[in-house]
Amino acid sequence: MTLPMSPTMEHYNSISGRMQSYCEPSIGPSIVTLPRLLWCEAVYYDASTTMSEAVRTMMRMDAEAAQESATQADAGFLWDFWYPAVRSAEISGQKLVTAMLLEVPLVLGRTSEGKVFAMRDSCPHRGIPLSYGRLDGKVVECCYHGWRFDACSGQCLEIPSLSSQDKLKVERIFAGHYPCEERDGYVWVYMNAPGTKLPETIPAVPALTVFSDKYKITHLSCELPSHVDQGIIGLMDPAHGPFVHQSWFWRKRGSIHEKAKQFEPIPNGFRMSPHSPSTNSAPYQLLKKITGEPVTTTIDFVLPNLRTEIDQSGKMWFSSRATVTPVRRDLCRIDFVAAWNLFFLPVSIFRMFGKVFLRQDQETMIQQAEGLKHSPRLMLIDDADRPAKWYFALKANLLESRRTGAPMVHPMDGPTTLRWRS
Ligand code: FES
Ligand SMILES: [Fe+2]
Repeated sequence: MTLPMSPTMEHYNSISGRMQSYCEPSIGPSIVTLPRLLWCEAVYYDASTTMSEAVRTMMRMDAEAAQESATQADAGFLWDFWYPAVRSAEISGQKLVTAMLLEVPLVLGRTSEGKVFAMRDSCPHRGIPLSYGRLDGKVVECCYHGWRFDACSGQCLEIPSLSSQDKLKVERIFAGHYPCEERDGYVWVYMNAPGTKLPETIPAVPALTVFSDKYKITHLSCELPSHVDQGIIGLMDPAHGPFVHQSWFWRKRGSIHEKAKQFEPIPNGFRMSPHSPSTNSAPYQLLKKITGEPVTTTIDFVLPNLRTEIDQSGKMWFSSRATVTPVRRDLCRIDFVAAWNLFFLPVSIFRMFGKVFLRQDQETMIQQAEGLKHSPRLMLIDDADRPAKWYFALKANLLESRRTGAPMVHPMDGPTTLRWRS
């Protein structure tokens, strides 16, 4: 898998669409020559290209090393999808909130009309984070030279230093900005690939499935010090349960037994077909006792990072979604949201158990990161790791189909049964 751009190009390309309007013929990011610098009203340059030679020499080794590793090491992110950036409740008033998604620094806020926005946390003038500036209704003002940007479009509205003689077309300057929407208590940001234009139509933000008007809802999250791929295959891994999630309320190690589960392909993912959940898990037994009806569970995984689970028994239902979002290549975050109408399950009790569960996964991933530092060779075995294999194949096939324009090939031929002990 190859990243569309190296991080250096990414910076350049986020603004390159507008560069040519000031300076014909176009100039490359690293060849800002002196005459051009003088002719053009506005010149875009990479932060590293016009430094004094002395500074450049000092930084060369670092930069070369960074560039080399950037081209060699594919960050393995899936662009052109919605990702949850922060919780909705974190953004209020005039506050500017920072977040990072796919190694892109973001600044988020809410206009005076209540609409959320997400900009790249970098002023297009000198790169200072816009989050050091201030939000005034629907305008973000940079703290350095006071350039003012429309928060929702990123368009520059004002450059205070311009005199009446200046011909610079302020409105053609844009700060990086991303589509941004609220859903299920999160602010989602559509991360289009660096240097690309937004598609004509953007898919809808993923929504949690609910089955009644009234329900309880809660959110949990935790960071994992690992690449998103490790986070995701950890999330779909059926074999760690009896070892990592041993507890009186969930299950004991001795309860391990053979299972056969049917899976089927769905667009961009796969489904564990509706089935009766494991009889060795206490909560499911309780639900069955209360309703007197069988419990069915359906678990889906869909690219880029969504695992949803729906449990139903009679009129009772429980619906949850976990997303594993890449923050950096060495850090990801699980955002877990659950909703239910089970009258006997208070939010506080669920959160208590949910936190234990997530903490168990987090501790394991922290330990795993220790081992992964030394780049060991790893294994994926059948059938317990088959979902992980599907994930990698789905990801590769999606990238391939985007590259060639051909329809995406699904790695599964059709329904299939996997067997493992857990
Ligand atoms: S760095 Fe933002 S206005 Fe100059
Ligand atoms: Fe787990």
